[in-house]
Amino acid sequence: MAKVTAGGPVPSKNTQVAVVGVFEGGELSAAAQRADLDTEGLISAATKLDKGLGKPGSLRTVLNTQQAGSVAAYVVVGLGKPGDLTAKALRKATDSACTAAASLKPKLVFFSLNQELPKGQDDETTAALVARTIGEHFYSFSACRKQDEEPLNLPAFELACTKSTEKEVTAGVARGNAVALGMQLTRDLGNLPGNICTPAYLGDTAKALGKQYKLSVEVLDHKQMESLGMFSLLSVGKASNNPPKLIVAKYNGAKNPKDAPVVLVGKGITFDTGGISLKPGANMDEMKYDMCGAASVLGTLKAVAEMKLPVNLIAVVPTAENMPAGNASKPGDIVVSMSGQTIEILNTDAEGRLILCDALTYVERFNPEVVVDVATLTGACVVALGHVNSGLFSPDDDLADEIMSAGKQALDTAWRMPLDEEYHEQLKSNFADMANIGGPPAGSVTAACFLQKYTKAYPWAHLDIAGTAWVSGKAKGASGRPVPLLTEFVIGRSEG
Ligand code: BES
Ligand code: MN
Ligand code: ZN
Repeated sequence: MAKVTAGGPVPSKNTQVAVVGVFEGGELSAAAQRADLDTEGLISAATKLDKGLGKPGSLRTVLNTQQAGSVAAYVVVGLGKPGDLTAKALRKATDSACTAAASLKPKLVFFSLNQELPKGQDDETTAALVARTIGEHFYSFSACRKQDEEPLNLPAFELACTKSTEKEVTAGVARGNAVALGMQLTRDLGNLPGNICTPAYLGDTAKALGKQYKLSVEVLDHKQMESLGMFSLLSVGKASNNPPKLIVAKYNGAKNPKDAPVVLVGKGITFDTGGISLKPGANMDEMKYDMCGAASVLGTLKAVAEMKLPVNLIAVVPTAENMPAGNASKPGDIVVSMSGQTIEILNTDAEGRLILCDALTYVERFNPEVVVDVATLTGACVVALGHVNSGLFSPDDDLADEIMSAGKQALDTAWRMPLDEEYHEQLKSNFADMANIGGPPAGSVTAACFLQKYTKAYPWAHLDIAGTAWVSGKAKGASGRPVPLLTEFVIGRSEG
């Protein structure tokens, strides 16, 4: 990841590239005006020649042929009409400026776009967004390639900051870097293949996090889960050679160590074949991403620990591999969950809810302030919301609003879906307390209803990230979502 720090008001001595903003109509930002002096008018000359420079999405690299100072090139970025800048547009502008700046292969980049505050944002939130965007931009996954001889030489970035903004920008950069670090972990875990990222691997990753940040981490094995009565969770993993685990990682940052914790529960299916209800072959490789809920709660834990937030946070990850075999669950099998409720497994491919329900019962012991579970739970959620919004479900209007706003603030949005009592009808079974599927209508809603039956003891919300956790096609890769949303949510709780 590229290193991002708070810099000074002007490019430091050894800066080779500086990124400055201009507005529609040729108005120069403060940093662009300084660049114009440095280059003896090359910046204003560029905006005069190209009237489109200044529009959102416009960009031009101006070489400093006047050679005043060490800045060899200015990346001039259009920010639209002054006063109209949105956080989304600033994120886009930052991302394309990163591409342009990096193509010049500099060691140090001075970045001033964080001085243009989008509506409703301050110096801290803007610096956080810019720092995080730079971190996201330079993410790459090379763990599974033959190691390159030459290391990637990523540029370092200094964000513009004055005496009066220093405190805010420094705090924002720290937050942005922390979120980017959390997202990096989440993306790495997601991108790792199922033969490497097994339930035990996720457990080891949590233990390593525990060492790094002094967290208490416990990884329960199948014997311990048996004594707890987690037969729903265990039924999913029983046909795999990689036995299931339950990971519990605790960060204790609140002033009062006894404060009720925020609990995040993440679905950790390290590969989902569908089991005996086998999935079709096309694109099945993408089911290595079925542990992205788990990866996102570990990534959020990392970001929160990195920021040293004054909050108690517990990440819980039920993890298993869903395989077909002679000892696998069959359609029609009935299991007893930890809650005592029995489940008729009508489709072994609806396995996420089977591991989550036992984890959701397990977390009752923490007397949580709130529980949010995160899961690549249903293909139906992708049909409903595509790849733009995560699905948000909660019977609690205030909690739903709180999570919606966190998503908006973090540019990692969710959309609320219903949980009416009537949908529960679809989960009725002739033979057990409930079935694990509710038929084709409203598939993501009935999945959430299933989870709701295990979450009566605390305020609860569920995020279905099946459409947002990774990108398919040519740019296939984990997105790191919803770490920004979750981190923003926990920040809010730490202040409240
Ligand atoms: N992991 C899948 C959900 C999924 C599918 C996420 C495609 C992203 C893309 C989940 O375990 C699953 O298989 N769900 C079934 C549920 C059905 C059997 C009720 C589904 O969505 O088809
Ligand atoms: Mn499945
Ligand atoms: Zn699944």
